[in-house]
Amino acid sequence: MKRDFLTMADVSREDISYLLSRADFMKSNICGRDKSLTLLKGKSVVTLFYENSTRTRCSFELAAKYLGAQTVGITTDGSSVKKGESLIDTAVTLDKMKADAIVIRHSVAGAPMLIAQHVKASVINGGDGMHAHPTQALLDMYTMKERFGTIEGLQVAIIGDVKHSRVAQSNIVGLSKMGASVKVFAPNTLLPKGIENQPCKICSNEREAFEGSDVIMGLRIQLERQKKGLFPSVEEYNRFYGVSARRMAMCNKGAIVMHPGPANRGIEIDCDVLDSEMCLKDEQVSNGVATRMALLEWAVCNNG
Ligand code: CP
Repeated sequence: MKRDFLTMADVSREDISYLLSRADFMKSNICGRDKSLTLLKGKSVVTLFYENSTRTRCSFELAAKYLGAQTVGITTDGSSVKKGESLIDTAVTLDKMKADAIVIRHSVAGAPMLIAQHVKASVINGGDGMHAHPTQALLDMYTMKERFGTIEGLQVAIIGDVKHSRVAQSNIVGLSKMGASVKVFAPNTLLPKGIENQPCKICSNEREAFEGSDVIMGLRIQLERQKKGLFPSVEEYNRFYGVSARRMAMCNKGAIVMHPGPANRGIEIDCDVLDSEMCLKDEQVSNGVATRMALLEWAVCNNG
């Protein structure tokens, strides 16, 4: 049976634990002099990106290459999508070329689930609309586990534009599945409908959010996805919700800051915090390659 990776809700705790420990092996390999492995020799991975990306797309392509797979990258520009080819027709075309895995990013929620029903290749969700970004959550969890030794019992506060953030949605589900406690802190206009039914606490002030936290996850204000008027100005947003050194001082000793990137410097997070040693944004990027190697192996080697 083929293995897709579509949402954190679909993946078992056991599979997440396996992927996190397998990523350790992948990381030790890519930190060595020769990064090449042959675990996916003779396999092919296609990245199909209908939305912009630097981290997710490049890390999947490098991960596949480090594992010995052949890779092809397709974006909307330069493909037959521009001539009006449908999503399913595009995916089936790639499938008929015998792709073993298709990593897709799309602005429409549910697009990866739709193509997964039409192709034999393993489908990996590289981010769909405001719905899910499970591989980001996986690399975030790996980064936390690497720093703290465990995810169980961690207090994680997610701060900012939760409403438009697929990263937040996947982390809330994944982290709570792995035994962390999750809090969210944002203006009411930047919280999604139904957040009260998700496994997270809604904080009403900065003390509730920062005090007792081990991890602060800043979220990018997604100016491209939101209508105007959700907060008065970026300056005011920063004053009330920005991740700052003063607010970080309320956290537990040894607390870390994470940000999925790309960051709006000086808006959701102050530059001195983003560039400080407590911020693991660069480790997150490196860990993205290792966790995606583990994931590609898990999906492709078990397909067929
Ligand atoms: N975090 C993340 O998804 O970044 P990209 O948009 O650069 O892939």
